[in-house]
Amino acid sequence: TAALFDRGLLSGKQVFITAGPTREALDPVRYISNHSSGKMGYALAEAAVDAGALVTLISGPVNLPAPPRCKRIMIQSAEDMLEASLQNIDQCDIFIASAAVADYRPVSVAEHKMKKGNEEIMELHLIKNPDIVASVAAQQNKPYTIGFAAETRDVISYAQGKLERKNLDLIIANDVSRSDIGFNSDDNAVTVVSHEGATQLPLSSKRQLAHKLIEIIAAAEQKKDH
Ligand code: CTP
Ligand code: CA
Repeated sequence: TAALFDRGLLSGKQVFITAGPTREALDPVRYISNHSSGKMGYALAEAAVDAGALVTLISGPVNLPAPPRCKRIMIQSAEDMLEASLQNIDQCDIFIASAAVADYRPVSVAEHKMKKGNEEIMELHLIKNPDIVASVAAQQNKPYTIGFAAETRDVISYAQGKLERKNLDLIIANDVSRSDIGFNSDDNAVTVVSHEGATQLPLSSKRQLAHKLIEIIAAAEQKKDH
């Protein structure tokens, strides 16, 4: 793919990409999070830069260096990620939500480190986080908006549901029940689901896949002509 990749594909386009996990604080020393590595989002950022885009990477805590020639904004929580995503959203042409956003956060953050009590069972009260990609897609003059859907079953139908519900233009679905791919893997296999239908992409490195996805996204955005 690298040799066939057209470097001018996204020239002049502003692309925002969310990546990695979010961390939802419980107290000053504890948080709720997930195993997202950020690799897919960072690979997409690199591929978009290669294609000539001006890339803003909005990243949760990950162990990856900032890709060259992109603007990286590091955040912790879903609320921080939402704020960073909506900043300058009117200038964004393409928004790609690859982050694994925590669906819920603790209702309140304890000011001091919580102490162990005598009770055997401890209950946590959680409140729903804002949906970042849906908030972006609800903007007037919305960018071409792409989501990801990690599913363990009924992959395509759940992805189609999210495409409709969140008012997305495309959704990239992957089956995380497969042991050869997923959150921390270097490889991935995905299905691109649009309002017209679904296209399966074969197992390949996240880097190769990112180039392919950027080609598909650039072509689809061109056609939509926002
Ligand atoms: N997403 C988001 N903000 C959230 C939750 C999800 O922007 N608070 C985005 C993800 O980045 C992804 C898409 O929405 O692009 C789908 O995420 P997913 O977790 O699969 O969907 P949910 O709507 O959270 O549904 P569920 O976890 O119940 O499957
Ligand atoms: Ca979720």
